[in-house]
Amino acid sequence: MRLLVCGGAGFIGSAFVRARVREHADQVTVLDKLTYAGRRENLREVDPDIRFVHGAIEDPIAVADAAGDAEAIVNFAAETHVDRSITGPEEFIMTNMQGTHVLLEVARERGLRYLQVSTDEVYGSIEEGSFTERSPLAPSSPYSATKTGADLLVASYFHTYGLATSICRGSNNYGPRQYPEKLIPLMILNALAGDSLPVYGDGLQVRNWLFVEDFGRGIGVVLERGEPGQAYNCGGPDEMPNIDVVRRILSLCGADESLIEYVQDRPGHDRRYSLSSSKLNGLGWSARMRFEDGLASTVDWYRDNAWWWEPIRSGAYREYYERHYGRALKSS
Ligand code: NAD
Ligand code: TYD
Repeated sequence: MRLLVCGGAGFIGSAFVRARVREHADQVTVLDKLTYAGRRENLREVDPDIRFVHGAIEDPIAVADAAGDAEAIVNFAAETHVDRSITGPEEFIMTNMQGTHVLLEVARERGLRYLQVSTDEVYGSIEEGSFTERSPLAPSSPYSATKTGADLLVASYFHTYGLATSICRGSNNYGPRQYPEKLIPLMILNALAGDSLPVYGDGLQVRNWLFVEDFGRGIGVVLERGEPGQAYNCGGPDEMPNIDVVRRILSLCGADESLIEYVQDRPGHDRRYSLSSSKLNGLGWSARMRFEDGLASTVDWYRDNAWWWEPIRSGAYREYYERHYGRALKSS
């Protein structure tokens, strides 16, 4: 397939691009704004095989140029961190909503297949059981609200214009190359450096963990076999309270539990996420990586790839960290 992959220099987008180039021989153009979360290094292994366009999805000229002769658009591009959306929602509205609109317009003009990468957070928090695609959308943060707005716009382009759109909603991803503002890489790098591990509130919030390559495969399945106009949940095989995730990371890193530090809770913090993936299972997808194995291999990857994270931990990230947590990182 000829694909325009937006946000393909980020954590999940780059895993998807690597898999599509290697396993499906797709012709891929990546359009990416290279925000703090986007890095050309993430595409290093497939660089000779792809076209890279540096630009923003909210820029119609950049999108038209990047679209070239693509048959389909897969949109990963987004501002993705809940904490940043609480302190500064503006960029979330621009990228996640306005940017999606620009992509949909280009897809409509050219009659392209369109796949929106979305999140379980559009359903809000659930005490028991799991969300299905029929569950009401009830987002709680500016991040999830803008992702929900985008999902609704995508669905409207199917209903109104007959555009062949699909939505694939993933649960919390983890794996190599995730920016260390997110729980798992943050805790791994702090544990390796001997910095404290900041746990929000009581640490009993539950997340449904999905290995990044499993999500990339799920998105590929929806692209190839998903029914236009439909949304598909793609949830991980395991759920775990944050504090247990943190304890496992400490043990895998050989660090002491005295590094755990309970800090002020996130405002409006969702208690639990959980997705039912039976609809996507019906298309032949199932998660291959259990959390225990995926977490161990993720810790190994960060331990072995300091070249990837050292420039982050010694750059602007330190200022972000100090501002957000009110304490400096001990070492880089
Ligand atoms: P990420 O923050 O690692 O990467 C985002 C990428 O988008 C970066 O390469 C960035 O440079 C690019 N980008 C940002 N704004 C852009 C713009 N205006 N124009 C073009 N490019 C832009 O994010 P991620 O974790 O890889 O998430 C990718 C997608 O998957 C997002 O849509 C996110 O909502 C969704 N998702 C993430 C998770 C998760 O746990 N990380 C779970 C489910 C769904
Ligand atoms: P995060 O990785 O930001 O993903 P999301 O908020 O999209 O689920 O956070 C995962 C969980 O970890 C969430 O319950 C918040 C919690 N958390 C902490 O306890 N400490 C932290 O420093 C961070 C970043 C997250």
